[in-house]
Amino acid sequence: MITIGILGVGGLAALMVRGMQGAGYRLILSPRNAEVAARLAAEHGCEVAASNQAVVDAADGVFVSLPAATGASELAQLAFRPGQPVLSAMAGTGLAKLQSVIGPARAAVSMMPGYANALGVGPSILYPDDSFWRPFLAATGRVQTFDDEAGFTTAATFGAFSGASFAFMAQAIAWYESQGLPPGTARALVAATLRGNAEVLLSEDRGLPEIQREVITPGGISELLVSTLNERGALSAWDEALIRVLRRIGG
Ligand SMILES: NC(=O)c1ccc[n+]([C@@H]2O[C@H](COP(=O)([O-])OP(=O)(O)OC[C@H]3O[C@@H](n4cnc5c(N)ncnc54)[C@H](OP(=O)(O)O)[C@@H]3O)[C@@H](O)[C@H]2O)c1
Repeated sequence: MITIGILGVGGLAALMVRGMQGAGYRLILSPRNAEVAARLAAEHGCEVAASNQAVVDAADGVFVSLPAATGASELAQLAFRPGQPVLSAMAGTGLAKLQSVIGPARAAVSMMPGYANALGVGPSILYPDDSFWRPFLAATGRVQTFDDEAGFTTAATFGAFSGASFAFMAQAIAWYESQGLPPGTARALVAATLRGNAEVLLSEDRGLPEIQREVITPGGISELLVSTLNERGALSAWDEALIRVLRRIGG
């Protein structure tokens, strides 16, 4: 059985451990944040190591979900084996930076939404492609690999896009509730609509402009909604927001 060490046992680690349930990996956790580590050990059969170095020593590969601001300096204090696969999910830590702090080990970087990965439907991105990490990530959803870092970094903004999609859904759900719909009805309506439309993009072999022409009828209610949002710059504001995220993570 392949052993994965997890450094940084917080929100993301808990979600990934949940998503990895039944995937056939042995998981060893770093000890800090003992409460979460103990819960994951009890609920998912993970082991908890005595130190971060003990995680590295026991692991075939190391998944890094340490805080983005301090994770690289923590990694620099650890000794990795030559060629040991190390995968970081830390926002803003590029491949060269990661490689510089893990010495002889083999670096790769990734990004994922987190929560959807716990349910096995979260996409992940991976750079560079790595036969050790591809099946690991695939246990929690579909994997997109990149062979250039600029493309990976641009794509990595989807971590924020994913988080922001919850704010978007919350806005719409709150509006339906304010108009008198029961909360459960509003939530199910918004979520099922987005899931269905996402499925259209994933499974239909037609261009997006063609699909839009079909669903946004001239003079219809969808066009009214879109044109109202455009009058307020609500859709184009996404571009500026994503550029800010891209700059933050090094693009
Ligand atoms: N949350 C997501 O869905 C998500 C998705 C994609 C990527 N990420 C990335 O994943 C990383 C973790 O995010 P998160 O949301 O899981 O953060 P988090 O909940 O704060 O988890 C980070 C964990 O690392 C622990 N930690 C801090 N310093 C440590 C050290 N020296 N040794 C061992 N553990 C240490 C923290 O413990 P303390 O609380 O005691 O400091 C905390 O338990 C970030 O770099 C983020 O960019 C997160």
